[in-house]
Amino acid sequence: MSDAVFMLDKGKLLSSLNRSYYAIFNAIRAVTLLDNFDSKKHKGVIAHFNQYYVKTKIFPPDTYKLIESAFKLRGYADYKDMYIADRQETQEQISNAEYLISIIKPYLLERWAEIEQEETLKMNAIFTRTSTRQFTPEKVESKYIIKIIRAAMAAPSACNQQPWEFWITDDPEIIARLSQSTPYATPAKNAPVVIVPCYRTNDLPAAPMAIIDMAMSAENILLEAEELGLGAVIIGIAPLEERMKAVGEILKLPENFKAFAIIPVGHPASKHPQEDRYEPSKVHTL
Ligand SMILES: Cc1cc2nc3c(=O)[nH]c(=O)nc-3n(C[C@H](O)[C@H](O)[C@H](O)COP(=O)(O)O)c2cc1C
Repeated sequence: MSDAVFMLDKGKLLSSLNRSYYAIFNAIRAVTLLDNFDSKKHKGVIAHFNQYYVKTKIFPPDTYKLIESAFKLRGYADYKDMYIADRQETQEQISNAEYLISIIKPYLLERWAEIEQEETLKMNAIFTRTSTRQFTPEKVESKYIIKIIRAAMAAPSACNQQPWEFWITDDPEIIARLSQSTPYATPAKNAPVVIVPCYRTNDLPAAPMAIIDMAMSAENILLEAEELGLGAVIIGIAPLEERMKAVGEILKLPENFKAFAIIPVGHPASKHPQEDRYEPSKVHTL
C-alpha cells in the first residue's frame, strides 16, 4: 500500500493505480489460496473470490464493485495508450484498497489461526492414533515402556483408587500363549512386547468402577505409544470371565488380581491416517 501512496506523492498516478490494484489483488489471492485455489488469470481469482466470499456474504456486497473498479483502472493504467489518470480517482483507489485490506486482513488472520489449530490437532496423538496389529521385529526400548506405564498410571480413577498393576513381557513363549488366549488376540503374536494391565479386587473404595478406571488407563497407554511413534492395540479381556481366567493363568496372577486387557506394543509395520468419526448428528444440545 505504501508504494501506491509514494507513487501518488511523486505524481506517478499510473504506477500508483497499479500498486493499489496489486495490494487488493494479493489480499484476495491470499484468501482464495486458503481454498487451494489459484489461477494464472487475475479474472479467475477475482471470480472465485466473488463467488465464494462476496456472494456468500463473508465480505460486504460492495467489495466486488471496488475490486472490479481497481482491476479496470489498473488495466487502463498499464495497457491503454495515452490514458490520463485523474489524481482524485487515484487517491480514491488508495482509499478503496485500504478499506478492502482493512476487512480482508482480520479475516485472513482468523482463518490462519484456525488452520494452525487444525494442524496442531493433527499432530495430537488423539487424532492420529489407530490400532496397530502388525509390528516390525525391532525391540521397544525400556525407557519407552516406562513412559507408557507412567502415562497409564496418570489416568483418573474412581476415588483415586488406582486399581492397576501392569504385567509386561517380551518372552516369545508367553506372548504366543497370550495371542491364543482369545480368538481375537492374534495381533499379539508378532509384537516385541506385550503389556497386560491388571486390577486388584481387594481394598477398592469403588470396586464396581475398577474396570472403568482400567479403560481410562488403557487409553493412556495407546495414546502414549502413539506419541512415542510406536503402535499398539487393545485386545479386550475384561469383563469376560473366561478370558480373564485364561490370561490370569498364563501370567500366574495373584488371587486378588484380574486381567483387564492385552496390549501388544511395538514399531508399526505400517501406518494409516485415522478416519474422521465426528458426527454432528450424535451431538445433542439442550
Ligand atoms: C474394549 C475393546 C476391545 C477390543 N478388542 C480387540 C481385540 O480383541 N482384537 C483386536 O484386534 N482389536 C480389538 N480392539 C480394537 C478395535 O477393534 C479398534 O479400536 C476399532 O476397530 C477402531 O479402530 P482404531 O483403534 O484403529 O481406531 C478392541 C477395542 C476395544 C476398545
